[in-house]
Amino acid sequence: MYKIPANTLFMGHSVVFMPECHSTNDEASRLVESSGHVVEGTVVITDSQTSGRGQRGNTWITEPGKNLTFSLLLKPTFLNAQDQFLLNKAFSLGLYDYLNATLQANVKIKWPNDMMVNDKKICGILIENQIQGQNIQNSIVGIGLNVNQENFAMPTATSMKVLGKDFTLENVLHELLSFLEKRYLQLRSGNLEELHSDYLSALYWLGERHMFKKAEEIFEGEITGIDPYGKLKINVDGTTEYFELKQVQFLK
Ligand code: BTN
Repeated sequence: MYKIPANTLFMGHSVVFMPECHSTNDEASRLVESSGHVVEGTVVITDSQTSGRGQRGNTWITEPGKNLTFSLLLKPTFLNAQDQFLLNKAFSLGLYDYLNATLQANVKIKWPNDMMVNDKKICGILIENQIQGQNIQNSIVGIGLNVNQENFAMPTATSMKVLGKDFTLENVLHELLSFLEKRYLQLRSGNLEELHSDYLSALYWLGERHMFKKAEEIFEGEITGIDPYGKLKINVDGTTEYFELKQVQFLK
């Protein structure tokens, strides 16, 4: 069970806890469909997610009881559907701020919203928006943060414990929610320039030469930024190329 956090204005003031479920994003979406009104900031959280979903149709698998797997329900009706990448920016930055304040490590945001610590992935975010007309009605922000797990199938994964000590899941959730709320309120107040410049400062591989893959082609390039719609800008042989989520892979 999770208590209501004392350090937030609304984030996490309603909590739906399930010892086990398929996917908290799916449960959150069911909640929106089945009830007329869901309070903004509701957290749907589980100890054991059996069919966790990731980006690009991937699965999200974590050891039960050791990590945070939860979804936040938001109502960013002030956002135009074409600006939905702003949610990626705000929630990645909330996670970035929390991890940076908590861990003695090199924290970065790997576009679009993976959290990297010392070059390994510690957290993934899956944002699913419900759009009505021009605007976003509901947004489900699913977060999988590796906290106390020590062994991973993938050598590219890490956790907070690997970098330091054991953490209490409820404390991590409460502190994290306060950082996420600050960034969401920054977005809501329209402070987009700071959101953009902070996102760029935290961006993994920005201004460095690396290898990428598009379709079957491997190429070298340098990330130079993000366009207003969230496309990744890579300078390839002096020309800026723009990539959507599934169009480019980071190699080394
Ligand atoms: C990714 O890195 O591909 C995104 C992973 C997102 C995983 C979280 S865990 C809680 C929520 N429920 C899901 O089914 N997925 C997200």
